[in-house]
Amino acid sequence: MGSANYKKRMTEVLWELLDNVLNTEEPLNALFGSLELLAGLMNCEGGAVWLLDTETQRLVPVVSIGKVQFTDISVENGLGVEGIVTASGQSVVVESTLSGNYPGSIFDEYGLKVQNMLCVPLKSLADTLGCIQLINRRDGAGFSDEEQMLCRQAAALVAFAVEEQGCTVSAGEKKEVLISLRGVTKEFPSGEGVIRVLKGIDLDIYRDEFVVILGESGCGKSTLVNIIAGMDHLTDGTLIIDGKDFSSPTEAELTRFRREYLGFVFQQYNLMPNLTAQENVKYIAELVKDPMRAADAIAKVGLTDRAKNFPSMLSGGQQQRVSIARAIVKNPKIIFADEPTAALDYRTSIEVLEVFEQIVRDRGSTVVMITHNPEIARMANRVIKLRNGRVSSVRVNLRPAQAAELVW
Ligand SMILES: Nc1ncnc2c1ncn2[C@@H]1O[C@H](COP(=O)(O)OP(=O)(O)O)[C@@H](O)[C@H]1O
Ligand SMILES: [Mg+2]
Repeated sequence: MGSANYKKRMTEVLWELLDNVLNTEEPLNALFGSLELLAGLMNCEGGAVWLLDTETQRLVPVVSIGKVQFTDISVENGLGVEGIVTASGQSVVVESTLSGNYPGSIFDEYGLKVQNMLCVPLKSLADTLGCIQLINRRDGAGFSDEEQMLCRQAAALVAFAVEEQGCTVSAGEKKEVLISLRGVTKEFPSGEGVIRVLKGIDLDIYRDEFVVILGESGCGKSTLVNIIAGMDHLTDGTLIIDGKDFSSPTEAELTRFRREYLGFVFQQYNLMPNLTAQENVKYIAELVKDPMRAADAIAKVGLTDRAKNFPSMLSGGQQQRVSIARAIVKNPKIIFADEPTAALDYRTSIEVLEVFEQIVRDRGSTVVMITHNPEIARMANRVIKLRNGRVSSVRVNLRPAQAAELVW
């Protein structure tokens, strides 16, 4: 600590952060990038950015990284470390406690013992907008004066950007958890032993939200979604869906759950070649209790004039739209889409994403989409980033992008 190299790195981080703040149009992305930079520099176990909802005077965690994934939580302004920092505009440092745990921290509820913490205000010219909080240095060192100063400066830059862009949050709406995972692991047999692909996933997915699960190839996205969607069993942990425990379901329970609850869209369209577009949809509709009309589902994906075509007569994008129609015709509570545009070119991908956008808007269904493309993640209400079998971050998009705005 305190070496010339480290100081150089601190200066570089400040520049990087400035660049990130100036060049990111979406303030939340700037917040997220800044948090990642600061937590990375100081090698912290976790961190969060809290913003004040001025109407309710409560603080909402809009971005979190590392061990602690905040879900449904808010803190009263003036209370708790976050509230004190925001209300007073002063930073708070909690130094390493020898045996222990900083008492009364909301992190307790999330199973993280706070050994040390730095919390700095997001202070703009007029107001304090919230705070940036960093938890538990892995090396156990305290936060030096220089580091505290760096964080305060960084927070001031970030606050400026947030204020310029007018970033608002609302703690008022109470979200309902539809899917809840705790400590979910998944191992596959490999040679003599096993490989652990999911390493303890804690995650809540809310009713009617559009969630993107983002991560590089091989990080465990499909494995995770296959478990949530009842296509694979978890090794350890709990999975609750709509209040029901699906941690170790019977095959019969699973089959019923998949049929009545879920719609799927995969990278491959998996259409029946000898059925027309509409027949492909109708055949699925006949399996469930309360379906939409096949013709209506076809209309929703904009293929009415192609309803009588066989898959071989349709483009890749059109075939994917048929498979979306097949997913929505069941009136499912949850729609899963695993890399639905991975096989499509850019323009066709956007068309397919527009269909998803419309489904989210019109039907208010919960949509869980997997992608490795960060640009697509901009459409989501929340972005869950996986890395190497763990949730590495959760980000709320306060203003989700429209499909038509995406570029890659
Ligand atoms: N049935 C399986 N048996 C053994 N290993 C598997 C199995 N399914 C997936 N894996 C491994 O798990 C890891 C994560 O795979 P996957 O969930 O498909 O990743 P992603 O969808 O993020 O690309 C990969 O290393 C993959 O090889
Ligand atoms: Mg995959």
